[in-house]
Amino acid sequence: MAQIKGSLARRRFDAVIVGAGGSGMRAALQLSEAGLAVAVLSKVFPTRSHTVAAQGGIGASLGNMSEDNWYWHMFDTVKGSDYLGDQDAIEFMCREAPHVVYELEHFGMPFDRNADGTIYQRPFGGHSANFGEKPVARACAAADRTGHALLHTLYQRNVRAKTQFFVEWMALDLIRNAEGDVVGVVALEMETGEVMILEAKATLLATGGAGRIWAASTNAFINTGDGLGMAARAGIPLEDMEFWQFHPTGVAGAGVLITEGVRGEGGYLLNSNGERFMERYAPTLKDLAPRDFVSRSMDQEIKEGRGCGPNKDHVLLKLDHLGAETIMKRLPSIREIAIKFANVDPIKEPIPVVPTIHYQMGGIPTDYHGRVVVPKNGIPNSVVPGLYAIGECACVSVHGANRLGTNSLLDLLVFGRSAGNHMVGLKLGLEEHKPLPADAGAATLERLARLDARTSGEQTQEVADEIRKTMQAHCGVFRTASLLNEGVEKIQALEARVQNVYIKDKSRVFNTARIEALELDNLIETAKATVVSAAARQESRGAHARDDFPERDDHEWIKHTLWYSEGSRLDYKPVHMKPLSVETFQPKKRTF
Ligand code: FUM
Repeated sequence: MAQIKGSLARRRFDAVIVGAGGSGMRAALQLSEAGLAVAVLSKVFPTRSHTVAAQGGIGASLGNMSEDNWYWHMFDTVKGSDYLGDQDAIEFMCREAPHVVYELEHFGMPFDRNADGTIYQRPFGGHSANFGEKPVARACAAADRTGHALLHTLYQRNVRAKTQFFVEWMALDLIRNAEGDVVGVVALEMETGEVMILEAKATLLATGGAGRIWAASTNAFINTGDGLGMAARAGIPLEDMEFWQFHPTGVAGAGVLITEGVRGEGGYLLNSNGERFMERYAPTLKDLAPRDFVSRSMDQEIKEGRGCGPNKDHVLLKLDHLGAETIMKRLPSIREIAIKFANVDPIKEPIPVVPTIHYQMGGIPTDYHGRVVVPKNGIPNSVVPGLYAIGECACVSVHGANRLGTNSLLDLLVFGRSAGNHMVGLKLGLEEHKPLPADAGAATLERLARLDARTSGEQTQEVADEIRKTMQAHCGVFRTASLLNEGVEKIQALEARVQNVYIKDKSRVFNTARIEALELDNLIETAKATVVSAAARQESRGAHARDDFPERDDHEWIKHTLWYSEGSRLDYKPVHMKPLSVETFQPKKRTF
């Protein structure tokens, strides 16, 4: 099996995919079914990837409950993005949506059904009929366990297609040659501590989000921004990292997600006066306005003293009026979560909720084939040969400044399939591997050696906790220049402390302390990108709300931010305002 390159063993594949969540597995399926040799690396067993936690549904204009079409879906997505989304990619996604959902149905996905056998769909935030006229049921759901059902469906299909999984492997760095082409990854087998080079004709990053840079997050502990860190260290910029979505309904004090599907089924939010306050903020869509809107409204209620509980620090999500039968049938996991994490049975009592970090809109810049693109020689979107990125770690950008619920599962299916198809089209099986650079893996080995050599310093989690606290305090729902600038300074100071962490146990076997220290390198890159990009954007758009610049500034700021790790430098590039076949949706004031 293993040949030797310097001191590192290596293996060769047509394609290496880093991450076995929904996007990685959807792309892998396309490649394996085309007969290519594919390796999928995952820190956890594939069906434990964070996609498993997605609850409410996949957005697609099937029109099973009432009239719907892809153009309305596109309008909602562009408006939801606060006009920062690339309209070519958004058109592509919304047109493809029904197709990828039916495909999934044929793979055996256990969707809920209507009486006539069609897929059950529920309303979700920001999704509307006829350009904002009224809510529409567009979320294709498997109860409140849609991500779970999706991940199991894709895993089984991949097993059938003979995709090769490297379970409990962590990718550490990309390998680029002198021309800048990506020719594989350096990876660590978590069980043995062995480091290996996986050579690839195409490398795809599908590592998910980095929600663990925040103290209160709906994200799994594995979401440490590994793909972002790998890209940043390899000189690739990160796009629009200032935009992070607060999901309106995380369980207060615990952060666990309560699906927007609750409000889709008819649940609503109450303040301490028992008032359904969203009627004031969003008279048409009410509790089903987009997430940035609902989260800010909740925060406003709390700020103005209408929060609930002894500390007046949360609001209530009422759903008992839906009745036990609907709750048990459509929202069984929500009931379980509420009982376990909030000690309330939602059949009888409302759930205490607060806006909680949920999703990163930014990421590694790509086009809608999943190819990573960077500015080069005056071209804003020049392809990095051999490198793809999809799913939450990528910025294609279909979500712009604010994602609509259910468009994340859609994004990973559409762009997983699209990237897979693009690679198949390259006829990778017939290509030769490009030679590895002579120093392949050297920088990674030096990083590991430095970590192992330190015999004193700080513990990883002390520094990681400080990063999380700083991000939460300085880069939250409402931002100001002074908060953000202080945040930048604190994160810069923490960067020095990251270089000083040490691990007591130097053994290689299942050394989780070593893994966490390596993850810290990725957390700090993501935190830097976020706070530096946020401090620079002097306007309020989507999830980026500045108290000192409360208006959206379309004259100055319809542009994507690019953050480079080297020198923590910023650059900007234009938004693709031109769709593929229809007219541009011109920016308008967002009301709901
Ligand atoms: O509320 C939810 O079920 C989350 C869905 C999403 O983030 O798309």
